[in-house]
Amino acid sequence: MLYEWHSDQSSARLAAVPTRTPEDFDRHWADILSNPEVLARIIQLDGAAVGYLVSFIRDRRRWLGYWISREHWGCGLASAGVALFLNIETARPIHAAVAKHNRASRRVLEKAGFRVMEEGIHEVQGERIEELLCVLA
Ligand SMILES: CC(C)(COP(=O)(O)OP(=O)(O)OC[C@H]1O[C@@H](n2cnc3c(N)ncnc32)[C@H](O)[C@@H]1OP(=O)(O)O)[C@@H](O)C(=O)NCCC(=O)NCCS
Repeated sequence: MLYEWHSDQSSARLAAVPTRTPEDFDRHWADILSNPEVLARIIQLDGAAVGYLVSFIRDRRRWLGYWISREHWGCGLASAGVALFLNIETARPIHAAVAKHNRASRRVLEKAGFRVMEEGIHEVQGERIEELLCVLA
């Protein structure tokens, strides 16, 4: 299910994440979910999984990530999910990296109180992506 969401081309382009083979993807997520410092939640709509939220440590900082399956975009799920998740993930500061072109995600972060900390360039499979590093203090 997560692999299906991530292999959707529009979603992957928006999020600016590398595409992975199913095996790499499973390994990547097995590593994430076996880490006790990770907090992850599935978003359900009428009993069906439609997205996820995750918080994890990288480079000694805590980061937030989220994904909504494409057929459920634009219904407020990311905004509502992030707001609820930040009540259970109370570590601050918490960071988020967002591609500059990902306007929906920028808005989700803005509504949750994140502010832009710095701008950078992130290389994804040979493509240079402008990204914003955001923080909720
Ligand atoms: C980005 C993503 C999480 C947004 O999820 P969503 O559930 O559709 O978002 P919401 O419906 O909660 O709303 C997003 C906000 O962005 C706004 N928005 C949506 N598309 C927009 C666009 N192209 N330009 C500007 N604002 C936009 C919406 O109007 C809404 O703001 P509002 O509440 O002020 O009206 C979803 O597209 C996704 O999962 N994408 C692939 C993975 C990804 O990008 N993850 C985030 C990585 S940082």
